[in-house]
Amino acid sequence: MVTVKKPTETRVIQYDHAGGAEVLQTLSRPLPPPGPGEVTVEVISAGISHIDGFIRSGREGAWASEPFPRGTGSDFAGIVVDSDDRRFPRGSEVVGHVRSGAHATYLTVPVGALVRKPKGVTWETAGGLYLAGVTALDTLDQLHIASGDTVVISAAAGGVGSIEAQLARHRGATVIGTCGDRNFDYLRQLGIVPVKYGPGIADRIRAAAPQGVTAFIDNFGQDGQELAAELGVPASRYRSSADRRDLELKLLEKDPETVAHGTRQLEVLLALAEEHAFSLLISGFYPLSDVALAYADLDKLHSRGKVVLGTHPVSKYRYLKARDVADARA
Ligand SMILES: NC(=O)c1ccc[n+]([C@@H]2O[C@H](COP(=O)([O-])OP(=O)(O)OC[C@H]3O[C@@H](n4cnc5c(N)ncnc54)[C@H](OP(=O)(O)O)[C@@H]3O)[C@@H](O)[C@H]2O)c1
Repeated sequence: MVTVKKPTETRVIQYDHAGGAEVLQTLSRPLPPPGPGEVTVEVISAGISHIDGFIRSGREGAWASEPFPRGTGSDFAGIVVDSDDRRFPRGSEVVGHVRSGAHATYLTVPVGALVRKPKGVTWETAGGLYLAGVTALDTLDQLHIASGDTVVISAAAGGVGSIEAQLARHRGATVIGTCGDRNFDYLRQLGIVPVKYGPGIADRIRAAAPQGVTAFIDNFGQDGQELAAELGVPASRYRSSADRRDLELKLLEKDPETVAHGTRQLEVLLALAEEHAFSLLISGFYPLSDVALAYADLDKLHSRGKVVLGTHPVSKYRYLKARDVADARA
């Protein structure tokens, strides 16, 4: 019988004081073996989110008492490598979430934060799904977006917006997505009506939605509230970028109810991804060691889909992405 050595160390991204991505360090740490109700997962992919950067910078008061050193990242997908759990034996392909610390090569996590990865969902998508996906799903649920709605979604090509917009379409709503010229074709292919952001946007939305707008989700957070009011959207059917931030911070809390909610929604999302109700584009895929570059890419605010980290990069060489070439010409 071949005995596979259980991992006892993990490489983690962590930081010991607030700051920009330059405070992130890659370190080796002892890996605790799984306790009751836990398994150890070898991480294959992990998403990065703006909220990680907001927390790291020190601007999120809710995290002020969180001790240092801190890990980063909440979304991951990987393979169970140490387990006594019947639901997730060794070799199980899983998708999961943690409050922080997903940016690592191995994680020991409670099974209550794991869902099986469907074969039809890629590692890249699975690893970047949790925070953006659950934020999108919760927002649509809270606003009861359904057939008959005409919903405006800002930053509709971004990480959260692209999932929100496709799932709103899947529910039968008419979706108007704000974006720059570069994303018109992408959104059109998804059945979303693209409208360019910037001055004159209210008139462009009215022209695109002569039937009127019934809901407004502002991911980007500039002129959303005034614009929604101008379009006649009731306050109860408007979500600001600050509401979204609160929702994301809530999803990172560690009380059992929040964790269970996140896991249930993750399961719903994976089923929707498997049935192609939406697809998540990977805007950039970076080796774990290039985490600072990955955040710099995200901070450009022009992602199309998600920026994701991988622990097993095929090559350490960096390739110019089609997106970078197009942007350099613009
Ligand atoms: N207020 C908060 O606390 C809070 C919380 C979470 C996120 N956010 C913000 O929400 C935004 C989207 O989040 P995400 O995670 O989905 O990010 P993302 O993936 O970085 O979003 C990028 C998208 O934003 C679009 N965009 C750029 N400038 C825009 C503008 N002026 N108006 C509308 N869309 C614009 C880009 O479209 P083009 O490439 O076509 O320009 C791109 O597709 C980020 O700016 C993030 O900082 C704010």
